[in-house]
Amino acid sequence: MSLVRKVLVVGAGGMGRRWADAVAGREDLVLAAWVDTARDVAEAAAAELSVARRLPPGGLLVEDDLERALDAASPDIVVDVTVPEAHLAVTLSCLERGIPVLGEKPMATAIDDARRLVEASERTGTLFAVSQSRRYNAELVALRRLVEEHLGHPELVSCWFYRAPHFGGFREDMPSPLVVDMAIHAFDVARWLLGSDPVAVYCDEHSPSWSWYKGAASATAVFEMSGGARFSYAGSWCAPGLETSWEGSWRVTSGAGTASWDGSSAPKAEIVTGRGPARVVGEPDRSMASGIDGALAEFVGALDGGPPPMGECHDNIKTLAMTLAAVESAATGTRVAVRWR
Ligand SMILES: NC(=O)c1ccc[n+]([C@@H]2O[C@H](COP(=O)([O-])OP(=O)(O)OC[C@H]3O[C@@H](n4cnc5c(N)ncnc54)[C@H](O)[C@@H]3O)[C@@H](O)[C@H]2O)c1
Repeated sequence: MSLVRKVLVVGAGGMGRRWADAVAGREDLVLAAWVDTARDVAEAAAAELSVARRLPPGGLLVEDDLERALDAASPDIVVDVTVPEAHLAVTLSCLERGIPVLGEKPMATAIDDARRLVEASERTGTLFAVSQSRRYNAELVALRRLVEEHLGHPELVSCWFYRAPHFGGFREDMPSPLVVDMAIHAFDVARWLLGSDPVAVYCDEHSPSWSWYKGAASATAVFEMSGGARFSYAGSWCAPGLETSWEGSWRVTSGAGTASWDGSSAPKAEIVTGRGPARVVGEPDRSMASGIDGALAEFVGALDGGPPPMGECHDNIKTLAMTLAAVESAATGTRVAVRWR
């Protein structure tokens, strides 16, 4: 008989609901407990999910206290989908008990806090990964394959992202909402496309006069990457009209040519080596698990002895370091070294 693991989800907001549904949709997992400090939020979410997924009555514990829920449910996995400020305390409690954690980005709100989590994962020998769910995208994987197979070593990567969502909630009140909550995905993707580490960043943040965010919702950043590549990012969360896709628009260039991706359709490349320019279109594997389903499948696979998840904490801390260094650069008006050790 195959192993069925018990999962505890912490956080029952918009994203917590999506995670609980992803857990409930797998036959090798059972949603055993759902915790939110706002108990009524967790109760309402649990009631909705129980109807939608026909969960057996009484099988899902709802709590507002994490420690009590951990004692009662003894989960095999915790998914931390709380607000970023709570990631340190929630994840640390679980790692100290030896319970593997799959957390939402960002890993933490300060690099020292992230280091504490990496240290706890090492010391307790407990898997901790951060779901950077936008990596699990068939078109993006096809772009990465085009880069590997045709471009060799790109040194120019650009992403531009322009959208105008009205979220309400924490994003409209937080400092640096674009960089911390959204550009972090693009920074993570750039690192993955290039297969290199961040070295330093210069970033400028800005609030257009019509912005509906308290913090700066537009930013331009240039990263130096190991090996000498440059990654440039330009984006805004208050840019109405002609919006880009949620994944942004990408361009990757080496001496052999350029690959591009609009963030939604199949990527393409023009290769200039050989007898003349050749057009290549990437072939997305649309059967792959995407988004948080992909992150969850990889995490469970790692617990079953498979390779470490892409967001394993020793690697994902570099994405957080890029984000925090960009914020520091914007605040100080200086080029900032990206450090995670
Ligand atoms: N990968 C993505 O594409 C993506 C998209 C949206 C959100 N997120 C991330 O998911 C996380 C949650 O975002 P959201 O949009 O669901 O936020 P949200 O504000 O809708 O929900 C967060 C919930 O966490 C609860 N909470 C706060 N502190 C807690 C604690 N200590 N213990 C238990 N519960 C606690 C709150 O009461 C709230 O219900 C954030 O880290 C966010 O960055 C990722």
